[in-house]
Parts: sequence; C-alpha cells; structure tokens
Amino acid sequence: MAASETHRAVGREVLGDGYAGQLGYAGEHELLRMAEVCGMAPGRTVLDLGCGTGGVASWWARRTSARVIGVDCSGTALRIGAADESRDARAAFVAADATALPLAASSLDGIVSLDGFGLDFARLAREARRLLRGGGRVALLISLPAGGAGPALEALAAAGLAECFVEDQMEPAAALMSRWREAYRRAASGHIAEVGERVHRGIVDEIDELLVGYREGTTERVLIGATRLQAARSARVAR
Ligand SMILES: C[S@@+](CC[C@H](N)C(=O)[O-])C[C@H]1O[C@@H](n2cnc3c(N)ncnc32)[C@H](O)[C@@H]1O
Repeated sequence: MAASETHRAVGREVLGDGYAGQLGYAGEHELLRMAEVCGMAPGRTVLDLGCGTGGVASWWARRTSARVIGVDCSGTALRIGAADESRDARAAFVAADATALPLAASSLDGIVSLDGFGLDFARLAREARRLLRGGGRVALLISLPAGGAGPALEALAAAGLAECFVEDQMEPAAALMSRWREAYRRAASGHIAEVGERVHRGIVDEIDELLVGYREGTTERVLIGATRLQAARSARVAR
C-alpha cells in the first residue's frame, strides 16, 4: 500500500492538499485536530507512534514547526518513506516496536498515533506516562470494537494520565472512507495491475468492513486525548 502509485493518486483525489501520504483514514481536518489536542507547536517534541512511511509526521512538522519523531516497527515502510526528498527536516525516524521505545523518560511533549498501533492501551499508557514531560499530551485517532473507548480511557487513567476524553469521529470517518472506497473502485483496474487482485480486494474489503461496523454500531471511530499533569498538580489530584 505504502509503495503504491495508485494509492497516492487515490489519496490526492480524495484528500487534495490534505493528502500527506497517510495510510490511516484521516484528512486535513483530523490531522490538524490531532495536532491541536497533542499541543504541537514550535519548540515541542512529539512522537508519531506507528508512523508508517512517515508522510504524516513530516506534514505535521511542516504545518506546526514541532519536532516530530516517527516510530514504526516496519523497516520496509520507513525505507519507502526515506526515499521522499520533500520530507521536512524537523521530522526524524526510528525503527522500533511501540512496546519498547528507545526514547528517554520525560523526553516528549506529545504522542500522536493515527491508526498506528494495536489495542494494548495499558502498555501504551505506561509508555506515555514514562515518556511525556509534565503537561505533555496524547492524541490517538483509531477505530475500535464498539465500547472499546471506555477501557482505553480507564487504562490511560490507571497509568496516571488525566483529563482523558473521547471525541466521536464516526461521521467524518464514514464520509471519508466512502470517498476512498469509491475512488479505489474507479481506480480498480490500474490498482490490480499494480498490486494484484488479492491486495486490492483486501483494501476495499477493509474499508467496507469498517463502514458496515460504523453503520451497525459494532465499530467506533474515536479521537482519544489525555494529559500527563505537572508533578505538583498530579500530586494534588492524587490527594
Ligand atoms: C495503518 S498504518 C498507519 C501508518 C501511519 N500512521 C499513517 O497513517 O500513514 C499502521 C502502522 O502501524 C505500525 N505498527 C503497528 N503495530 C506497531 C507496533 N507495535 N510498533 C510500531 N509500529 C507499529 C505498522 O507497521 C504500520 O506502519
């Protein structure tokens, strides 16, 4: 998917200027909302967890002037992204697993993830608590089995993060995914010639499954936010 010219053409058709090479389902509006929730700004350092080819990390760095560290466990995705000479110099990339991040404690101001990790929120929450400085924030945009946001928030709170909240993103996601699906259908013959029938079918089926899940209420699309409080405030909240 990451290396496919058809995927890029479909992305540009669906998202226009909001196409940043993303594999996850988000347009400009969602990417800017994630940047806002996690407080990306000049002088801040933010981790993009499961960054894929890193197009979005670079886009965020360009749009917000934050320093963005993209981490992904796929060396292939990172290698494909490294060939992109238009990447923003404020974005840097590391191959690592989300469960063992080679980053120093209290070294980050934010953590974002766009469809970029598994469902082990307890582990993610503990890493977020370790890596974030006081005031640092988390912004995760993800599709979950219905009811999954509650346990995710509980895991973040249990790890000591505060101000945890969920924003429903179902409607914009469904609209966006319908457009991806139609664009992929129009581009089907070229896409199949490029990546093969199995891969093409897999992508369209995944979109269809998500759309059915949203419609039938078995899947939810959410933006999850949380904050690592400053030490003094955190102690007051604990009392
Ligand atoms: C759907 S892609 C999204 C990529 C990127 N966020 C984007 O939207 O372009 C999911 C990415 O998460 C990465 N990923 C999944 N589990 C991971 C883990 N445990 N540690 C690091 N990366 C992971 C995959 O390698 C893949 O590149």
